[in-house]
Amino acid sequence: MKAFKIFILSSICMVACMSCSTKPEVEPMDKLIERGLQTAVEQSLIMAKELEPQDSLLPRTYENGKLKTVKYHSWISGFFPGVLWQLYEYNQDEQFRKYAELFTSRVEPAKKMTSTHDLGFMLYCSFGQGYRLTGNKQYVEVIKEGTHSLLTRWNPHLKVMQSWGKNERWQFPVIIDNMMNLEMLCFMTRETSDQMYMDIAKTHANTTIENHFREDYSTYHVVSYDTITGQPHAKNTAQGDAHESSWSRGQSWGLYGYTMMYRETGDPAYLKQAIAIANFLVNHPRLPEDKIPYWDYDAPEIPNAERDASAGAIMASALIELSQLDKSESSSKWLDIAEKQLRSLSSPAYMAGIGEQGGFIIKHGVGHLRAGGEVDVPLSYGDYYYIEALLRYKKLLAQADK
Ligand code: GLY
Repeated sequence: MKAFKIFILSSICMVACMSCSTKPEVEPMDKLIERGLQTAVEQSLIMAKELEPQDSLLPRTYENGKLKTVKYHSWISGFFPGVLWQLYEYNQDEQFRKYAELFTSRVEPAKKMTSTHDLGFMLYCSFGQGYRLTGNKQYVEVIKEGTHSLLTRWNPHLKVMQSWGKNERWQFPVIIDNMMNLEMLCFMTRETSDQMYMDIAKTHANTTIENHFREDYSTYHVVSYDTITGQPHAKNTAQGDAHESSWSRGQSWGLYGYTMMYRETGDPAYLKQAIAIANFLVNHPRLPEDKIPYWDYDAPEIPNAERDASAGAIMASALIELSQLDKSESSSKWLDIAEKQLRSLSSPAYMAGIGEQGGFIIKHGVGHLRAGGEVDVPLSYGDYYYIEALLRYKKLLAQADK
């Protein structure tokens, strides 16, 4: 149904443009960014007010007319606080700082969790953003404790951190998403000058380059390691369509992860990896015209497959950063695609109207389609990376103006 709606909306725009005698005006990026951020501000305020009295709850999605929530232990707990921090960076409004502090504090108990690898998402997107913007040293203490919890999952023999618990199928599963937790380790080295954190991040990233990617630079979702030989014994999917398919959000995590690792380390191997992933994605024959991926690049239902706007938002944010780090001729291509993605996400086809969707910003995300959950819904991480992408693009425009 969603795929059909997106087609109708795009068609209406095309017909409207064709009926104009003059060339349709393209909204300048600075205007589009302001519009997107203003929508984010209004929507997030609606959500913050709704959840303020609901002790310990954080938003997950909006499904069947209802706001669905989580507590600190969900992998997504840090995204709404991160949305609020980013909006505070944008508008410097004390109300946003107050809400960002409130919802960040709801995530704090996660720092003691050793049962998840997602602590980078949970703590760095919330406390990390808060520290960057306020310099609050207590936030660093939370990140430090959380990082030590995360490192209980590090295996020096296998040279990777464990993502999920072992089961009958997998001895030591590592998912591509785990690349996103490395930024918190890099931060810890910057903060403490202890190289150990960065060394672990680099080792995990190197092992992942070796074992997660296919020849075309698409990535498997799950690689499980044999704990005796140290070699992969299974290359599978959990959230994608098939073991050999390319689950879209996983591809975006990989792109973002290696772009970030190049920014943090300056190691050209990570830039090479990020560029290769970006090429696979932007040249993919099944990346739709509006550049928002289907939920899996190999979904058998294409062209009627659901889109995953969250994969598009993560990819846009990563491509903007890559366009600045890649000094080769291809760099303009990354920004071009990111711009198209931001135009799509900021259009009525993807962006919620004020008061809609319980205060979420970006519609049409897919959480875990094959498990039947979170299909064609807004997702807190879609919103987080959409705002990050807008702010990154805004900074580029400001630099160009100087
Ligand atoms: N593991 C996070 C995700 O669904 O992308």
